[in-house]
Amino acid sequence: MTIEQEIAKRRTFGIISHPDAGKTTLTEKLLLFGGAIQQAGAVKSSKIDMHARSDWMDIEKQRGISVATSVMAFEYEGIKINLLDTPGHQDFAEDTYRTLTAVDSVVMVVDCVKGVEIQTEKLMEVCRMRSTPVIAFINKMDREGRDPYDLLDDIEGKLDINVHPLSWPIGIGKTFKGVYSLYDKSLRLFQPSKQRLYEETVKLSDIDSPDLEKFIGEKDAAKLREDVTLINELYGDLDLDDYLSGKIAPVFFGSAVNNFGVKELLDTFLKISPNPKPRNTDLREVLPTENHFSGFIFKVHANMDPKHRNRIAFLRICSGKFVRGSNYYHTRQDKKFRISQATAFMAQDKETIDEAWPGDIIGLYDTGNFKIGDTLTDGEKGTFKGIPSFSPEIFREVVNRDAMKTKQLEKGLSQLMDEGVAQLFSYEMGARKAVGVVGQLQFEVIQYRLKNEYGASADFVPIQVYKACWISAKDPKKLSEFIDSKQRHIARDKDGKLVFMAETRAWLQMVQDNFPEINFHFTSEF
Ligand code: G4P
Repeated sequence: MTIEQEIAKRRTFGIISHPDAGKTTLTEKLLLFGGAIQQAGAVKSSKIDMHARSDWMDIEKQRGISVATSVMAFEYEGIKINLLDTPGHQDFAEDTYRTLTAVDSVVMVVDCVKGVEIQTEKLMEVCRMRSTPVIAFINKMDREGRDPYDLLDDIEGKLDINVHPLSWPIGIGKTFKGVYSLYDKSLRLFQPSKQRLYEETVKLSDIDSPDLEKFIGEKDAAKLREDVTLINELYGDLDLDDYLSGKIAPVFFGSAVNNFGVKELLDTFLKISPNPKPRNTDLREVLPTENHFSGFIFKVHANMDPKHRNRIAFLRICSGKFVRGSNYYHTRQDKKFRISQATAFMAQDKETIDEAWPGDIIGLYDTGNFKIGDTLTDGEKGTFKGIPSFSPEIFREVVNRDAMKTKQLEKGLSQLMDEGVAQLFSYEMGARKAVGVVGQLQFEVIQYRLKNEYGASADFVPIQVYKACWISAKDPKKLSEFIDSKQRHIARDKDGKLVFMAETRAWLQMVQDNFPEINFHFTSEF
């Protein structure tokens, strides 16, 4: 196959949702269709197996959340689907943000009872930053949820994106009878069942077909006709370019646990979702079809096996063909590495692969050479952009509790930061270090891992910091004047970039007013 054909048959996407909306259930059903798993329940049970295998994950096991982002690849109707799972728990949101940089599109699950929830709003912000195409799946239609028009308004209002329904529900909760597909004008009839793979589909000539009454009764047929007429008037035909540029989200209704509407979602997704697209490095735009290999690391997962201090770096391929055993150029280290071990993530199993193509995610065994954001190429310089760090929400100072283990603490902190578990800020004055996280739970993970993996013991003491602001100025003199005047509050991030640690919101505002020549940024990429 040519590289163009390989690219045309690939879809790399992520599912996002607020916890409990049904992401895991939907993932599982998609894997069932792909033949990647044989039975319902397999995704959850394998999650538990994974916990049992891995010591440090005890924390998440206890709390019943998924810290890890995993990749599941499967084939369906000749298309290679790379599905990137994202931690739903908000304390690990940064991990999810980074995973979203490696996908080409997103499916967003919304609970029809709860509507759009806070975590979905935050994740959608990240999608908007990158104009990622989004499809919405309104789930749990077997429950007494909100009115569908209301749900569409909720998505438009809270997520700042236009919607375009491609299916329309007939009833909801106890009266839910199925959906009418506006996309292919068919009727899909609902029967609650966890095991069934295919819903009954009735092809109609159009919405005026008398068959409608036969299947859903007079009352529902009349209501559906009214709804469909209104929807067609309101939304017209879907403009695919608007979806592909992230302006409009097609919407589907269904029930993941009953496997209803999932096949419809998957089939339409394959027809309309984007395959791997060009990406920018700091030097140029890289087309996926180029023969030159390139890719970037978006996740580093440590200690998959606690007995061996190994890490897996997740690499998203952006262009060219990956060939195991080749030497690839690490742009940050300005060095070539021979990649002799690489893993594919076919469903739950990891298997060695010899080649991979744009859109694919491969796992590279790592002994400490890779950090999040690193770029590999076949020789060209230029680093992929778009994996920013965001200012954390909670800051604490690191206090070493075991002077004999200072080296271990430093090593542990540095490696955990490479993995992106949290962000470390080293103050310019004194040897103070602050760790910033998105959620409290991350401190527990860090503390636990420092102890268990590095034998180091540290406390995390609260400090007064409201935001970490990356600073820049046109005039270098002004920047150094600012740094001199705020010395106690200046730190450096993991890449040595200058950061102003603002104590409070009001104070930050005052400093911004007093130093108009200084630019304050809330993400590391500006
Ligand atoms: P998450 O990954 O987004 O956190 O959600 P998950 O799939 O784990 O689903 C959360 C709960 O919602 C699960 O129930 C799941 O069975 C249920 N669910 C998913 N889809 C539907 C649906 O279409 N209709 C209804 N009524 N429920 C749905 P649970 O009780 O937490 O777990 P379980 O014991 O059912 O596995």
